[in-house]
Amino acid sequence: MAIERTLSIIKPDAVAGNHIGEIYSRFEKAGLKVVAAKMLHLDNEKAGGFYAEHKERPFYNDLVSFMTSGPVVVSVLEGENAVAHHREIMGATNPKDAAEGTIRRDFANSIDENAVHGSDSTTSAAREISYFFNDNEVCPRTR
Ligand code: PPS
Repeated sequence: MAIERTLSIIKPDAVAGNHIGEIYSRFEKAGLKVVAAKMLHLDNEKAGGFYAEHKERPFYNDLVSFMTSGPVVVSVLEGENAVAHHREIMGATNPKDAAEGTIRRDFANSIDENAVHGSDSTTSAAREISYFFNDNEVCPRTR
C-alpha cells in the first residue's frame, strides 16, 4: 500500500472541548504519524480560501464563521493509505451517520460543527498541505 500524506484539522469545537490529545492519540494508535503541526486562529480570508470550493453552498458563511470562532490544530499525517484511513477514523461528515468509535461520532454534535476535517484525495491533500505549511515546516520523508 502507498505511503501518503493528508491534511487534518481539529476544528474549533473539538479544541474548545479539550479533545486535541484524544484525537491525536487515535491518529497514532491507527498508525498515522504526525509529521507537521501548528495551532492557528484562522481569519475570514484564510478560512474562506480553504473552503472556496463550497462558496456557492448555503452553509458557506456559517462554515467560515465557525472555522474562525476559535483556534484550530492543523496537522499533516503520514501513513499507509493515509487519506482514506484518516477519513475512516474521522467518520461520516454528519455525526448522526458516523460509525461507532469514530471521532465524529464521539466528539461532534452536528454536521455544522463536526470536530475534524480530512483531505478527500491525494490531490486535495497536496493542495491543502501547501495551503497551511511551507516545505520547511514539514518533516522530510523517511520512507
Ligand atoms: S457534502 O455535503 O457531502 O458534499 O460535504 P463535503 O463536500 O464532504 O464537505 C462539505 C464541508 O462543509 C462542511 N459543512 C457542511 N456540509 C454539509 N452540510 C452542512 N450544513 C455543512 N456545514 C458545514 C462539512 O463539514 C465539510 O467540511 P470539512 O471540513 O471538509 O469536513
